Amino acid sequence: MPQLAIETSCDDTCAAVLDGPVVLSNVISSQADHERYGGVVPEVASRHHLDLVVPVVEAALAGAETGMDDLDSVAVTAGPGLIGALLVGLSTAKAIAAPRRIPLIPTDHLHGHVAANFLEPDPLEPPFLCLIASGGHTMLAGVRDHAGFEVLGETLDDAAGEAIDKAARMLGLGFPGGPGLERLAATGDPGAFTFPVAMSRDPGLDFSFSGLKTALVYIGRDLGEEGVAERAADLAAGFQAAIVNQLVTKLGRALDDGDWPAVALGGGVAANGPLREAVATLCRERGIPFKEVSRELCTDNAAMIGSAARFTRALPYPEYVGFDAFATGPRGSR
Ligand SMILES: Nc1ncnc2c1ncn2[C@@H]1O[C@H](COP(=O)(O)OP(=O)(O)OP(=O)(O)O)[C@@H](O)[C@H]1O
Ligand SMILES: [Mg+2]
Repeated sequence: MPQLAIETSCDDTCAAVLDGPVVLSNVISSQADHERYGGVVPEVASRHHLDLVVPVVEAALAGAETGMDDLDSVAVTAGPGLIGALLVGLSTAKAIAAPRRIPLIPTDHLHGHVAANFLEPDPLEPPFLCLIASGGHTMLAGVRDHAGFEVLGETLDDAAGEAIDKAARMLGLGFPGGPGLERLAATGDPGAFTFPVAMSRDPGLDFSFSGLKTALVYIGRDLGEEGVAERAADLAAGFQAAIVNQLVTKLGRALDDGDWPAVALGGGVAANGPLREAVATLCRERGIPFKEVSRELCTDNAAMIGSAARFTRALPYPEYVGFDAFATGPRGSR
């Protein structure tokens, strides 16, 4: 029987219908309104989710040619994320599940990014090493089973996507900045400016991206507004290369430290072409298979939440009626 999955942790309103690991429909409605603020405004995101969540769920059900009464469970992102945004998805999921007395499966968003790799076609079986790089997180996840992961290293300050979005804003690109920065970088020279690759001498597996952002601010100050506009492609290329370099250096180090038979990616930054190429090259050199999850399953989506839900405890009715969302998660094993 089909399962409905709902994801509203940030600014994308998402619903999907799955039959086990098979995605029957996957609908994503991205909120364009945040562009003029240069970042996600939590209150605006929550209000948009309220407007969008019912039509997005209906579109997902229609796409899967199924109805609400045919569902056997509802999976929903419980956290981490923006609390107001999460509550819209959680309340919607409860309102669909409770009258039908079907189970609700509160799911971890980051487990979702990992679990995107478990979907058909070509699901990846644990154990594997997963680099998660998104708007709010950057971490190396050791995945030993389907039910969770161990955080082997994570960012000490900004997430990679957050740094990319701030750089894109400085370069006059839209929000979110990743796709625009990637397009602009393709026409620039990554060696034209020197950007620091932070933490490269640090023996651990943690990341840091705030110094890179500061370096861009200083280079921009020296160049002046016109200079930045003239050299925007070179700046984008250099910045992107420094991000990719740090991510791939740490991924390589984690492969040195552990006995991982495969590598996977997750999170919005994993949609980045040069990152995917660099990881593919690293894996080729090491003779390790690299699972390339589709770009649509890297950025936020509900199919990945349905996938994680398959390995998460389902709450029977009425256990979930008082269940609350959580904004932040604990470091360590999930
Ligand atoms: N092609 C790309 N290149 C680089 N970055 C990209 C690309 N596409 C999207 N991104 C970045 O991915 C991020 C969004 O990823 P995602 O949707 O997983 O994040 P999030 O859900 O906001 O954060 P989290 O998953 O940590 O809660 C943004 O910072 C965006 O700029
Ligand atoms: Mg995400």
